[in-house]
Amino acid sequence: MSDWSAGYVTEVGYAHGYYRELAPQNLALAASAKGVLAPGLDGAPLRVLELGCGQGYSANLIAAANPHVDYTAIDFNPGHVASARALAEEARTSNVHFSEASFAEFAEDCGRGEFDLVTLHGVWTWVSAENRAQIIRIAREKLRPGGLFYLSYNCHPGWAASVPIHRLFTDVAAGAPQEPVDFRIDQFFKVFKLLRDIGARGLEANPGVVERFLQMEDLPRNCLAHEFLNANWTIFHSADVARDLAEAKLNFVASAHIADQLDPLNLTDRQQHLLNQVRDPVRKELFRDLITNQSFRRDIFIKGDVRPCPRSEERWLDLRFALTARAADIPLQVKGMLAEAALTPETYGVLLERLDRGPETVRELIAEPKLQALGLANLRQHLLVLVAQKNCQIALPAGDEETRKSRTDAFNHAVMARARDGSDYGFLASPTTGGGIAVDRIGQLALTALRDGSPDPFGFVWNVLKDEASSRPEGPAGTLEASKGKLANFMTKTLPVLQKLKVS
Ligand SMILES: C[S@@+](CC[C@H](N)C(=O)[O-])C[C@H]1O[C@@H](n2cnc3c(N)ncnc32)[C@H](O)[C@@H]1O
Repeated sequence: MSDWSAGYVTEVGYAHGYYRELAPQNLALAASAKGVLAPGLDGAPLRVLELGCGQGYSANLIAAANPHVDYTAIDFNPGHVASARALAEEARTSNVHFSEASFAEFAEDCGRGEFDLVTLHGVWTWVSAENRAQIIRIAREKLRPGGLFYLSYNCHPGWAASVPIHRLFTDVAAGAPQEPVDFRIDQFFKVFKLLRDIGARGLEANPGVVERFLQMEDLPRNCLAHEFLNANWTIFHSADVARDLAEAKLNFVASAHIADQLDPLNLTDRQQHLLNQVRDPVRKELFRDLITNQSFRRDIFIKGDVRPCPRSEERWLDLRFALTARAADIPLQVKGMLAEAALTPETYGVLLERLDRGPETVRELIAEPKLQALGLANLRQHLLVLVAQKNCQIALPAGDEETRKSRTDAFNHAVMARARDGSDYGFLASPTTGGGIAVDRIGQLALTALRDGSPDPFGFVWNVLKDEASSRPEGPAGTLEASKGKLANFMTKTLPVLQKLKVS
């Protein structure tokens, strides 16, 4: 750990994650689902600031797919910033600017003007109170009135069980400060298992602790290091976060995770009734967290009053939506925190059949007689359910799609070139949605072969994987066979969708 890091892990780089909530149109959709007008829905120019951008994968992808967005992203880890800049240069994405700066340094920087959106994902829980104060200062001084602020954090009560795990982890790790991260993680696993085997009552009486521990065993080591090895790790009550952010004149709008907004899927009738009686929005969220045992919040705040958007339903008519799976593969079921619900085949079937042909605006969809009968409010709800299911995304206006495609092609080529050496990057950019679409390494290799006109894409992918397996003495048995199945699946199910979304 180095002096500049303020206790934040720097020995291992963070994962190359893409977080859909960071895309401006997704934030605006989530606010609009609550009837609040937010910047980002109509494709107008936007200035975005992302704090603690890590490897900058989300920033690079979003900037490439959204030429109307001027994207500034900062992180104090020079390794992260160097790799983020390298990708931007290779993809020739000129509207993303990566700064190697701490929150305190950026807060002091007066020359950047105002931003329409300030976002941070996976940061708040893991930094000190001083650094959170700097983030609040940035929001107060650099977010424009009416602008959106997005943050995610580990929250009570769902993460509460992990407090003893974190304490034990840091304690064990502190016993071997010079040892590599992997060693310290192994030591923690050993000590935890020993405590469990000797019947530690603190574990027996709190089954949630053991449950969390079991989930940890499957996580990549760099994620575990960034989650648990930081000097700071605070679990928050949503009401306390809202109180702190009020210092920057920020007010809670909605969860950016649309699934959290669909009350009938998450709450019983009595629970909904109780929440409907709570007027204060912050208190309501505190109650909601207790009712749903929420562990991770993805919250949108607005600078200034939360004003209902006039004619908010009508505004939806111009919004465009695109499926991110084949209609045939989308289950007529949705899973909430409470239960699984069946989707009405008569109406969802028609909607899916229409969207399967390609992206459509709500105005176009509602011209279909069966969807007209459903009414605008219900159609809106149907679309939100498909978004919550992760099978549908809001799409950008159709007009500039070709311009966007040349940019996303350059970004996707740069990402796919990396697929030959490993599988760090799991998303490609779509000029249709302006966001990321999950494509695993095998899919990316297959797309490379198709793009290069290979007569045998199966053979191309197969050779890369075979060479790799033979160069590793411990070569994972069975993986090659599994890869064949994955490749066949990609060709029949994923590829047609990527073509519709202009990813390939
Ligand atoms: C858990 S990672 C999340 C990265 C990225 N937002 C993501 O979700 O992939 C937190 C990031 O915040 C950065 N960070 C932590 N403290 C910081 C500070 N004081 N100033 C700037 N960046 C900081 C770290 O270097 C790290 O990249």
